[in-house]
Amino acid sequence: MRAIIYVFSGTGNTMRIASLYKEEFEKQGVETTLYPVRADMADLPDPEDYDHVGFAYPIHAFNAPAIMLTLAKRIKAVSQKEYFILKSSGEPLKVNNVSSLRFASLMKRKGYTLKSEYHYVMPYNMIFRHTDREAVRMWETAKALAAIEAGEVLHGEEHKLPSVFFGRFIAWLLRIEQIAMRVNGRFFKVKKDQCVLCRKCEKSCPTENIRIDENGKFSFGKNCIMCARCSFHCPTDAIKIGILNGWRVNGDYPLDRPIDESLPEPKHHHGWYCKRAYARYYAEAAAKITEYQNALSV
Ligand SMILES: Cc1cc2nc3c(=O)[nH]c(=O)nc-3n(C[C@H](O)[C@H](O)[C@H](O)COP(=O)(O)O)c2cc1C
Ligand code: SF4
Ligand code: SF4
Repeated sequence: MRAIIYVFSGTGNTMRIASLYKEEFEKQGVETTLYPVRADMADLPDPEDYDHVGFAYPIHAFNAPAIMLTLAKRIKAVSQKEYFILKSSGEPLKVNNVSSLRFASLMKRKGYTLKSEYHYVMPYNMIFRHTDREAVRMWETAKALAAIEAGEVLHGEEHKLPSVFFGRFIAWLLRIEQIAMRVNGRFFKVKKDQCVLCRKCEKSCPTENIRIDENGKFSFGKNCIMCARCSFHCPTDAIKIGILNGWRVNGDYPLDRPIDESLPEPKHHHGWYCKRAYARYYAEAAAKITEYQNALSV
């Protein structure tokens, strides 16, 4: 048996989730390929060569990123094939469920049926920085859930996320973000006194939107998809991201480091933000994990 997951990940969260699935699939004897999606869509693998097909992406403005919609338009048409979706986002609001509507409708036209979709809350790469403690909690929860849910995917279980009132309208309206971000991307600036000209941003941009000439002069093109990769991973936090600069988050979260629970939360703790939605997410996750462990011990 073989599986493929087409993954777009701006700053690594979604790739981490997809890697958990790969690990679990392989434990269950399914050879798994993670295909990183780039704008050139070079050498797109043929989904018909695989028994299980998945697509993974971060939620951007309650939608799938533009690059995933392009992928859905480019992917090979088939007579009938089931697939699953994995998505990550910074907050657990149910309105995030609308993010797959457009993607799924493009895929349907190509002959693909959405069998299951799973949403994992991961630390924000935009808006504000979660505390390290919150980030680790999200990651530990995602790891426990993914170990169960990857098995559900392999067993062909259906898993649909609850629909949202006016969902199609909300998703359609917020796709304006995709046009706005192409414009905004042209207004990125680099702080010359901070930049060490490592070229990491230029090399890693998934749409090749950044050019640095031989004199160290930067130019930003019109293909930005606002994945945040360049500014998030800049080692000196030198990139200003246009009108979203106040929401910029820089630097990896220490997800695999143990947290000292005896230390107080730092001052920038945003414990008030979407408090009830986070509490519901963790409670539902804990209930699912406990139910699974109880079933194993019977
Ligand atoms: C442009 C942009 C828009 C975003 N919009 C949302 C959103 O609508 N809802 C949400 O919960 N998180 C949102 N986020 C946060 C990301 O979805 C989240 O941090 C995700 O895990 C990032 O995954 P990645 O590291 O694979 O790119 C947004 C991030 C960016 C960069
Ligand atoms: S990643 Fe940051 S430091 Fe490196 S070239 Fe880009 S802006 Fe400069
Ligand atoms: S310019 Fe930066 S934010 Fe825009 S697509 Fe490239 S890496 Fe992503």
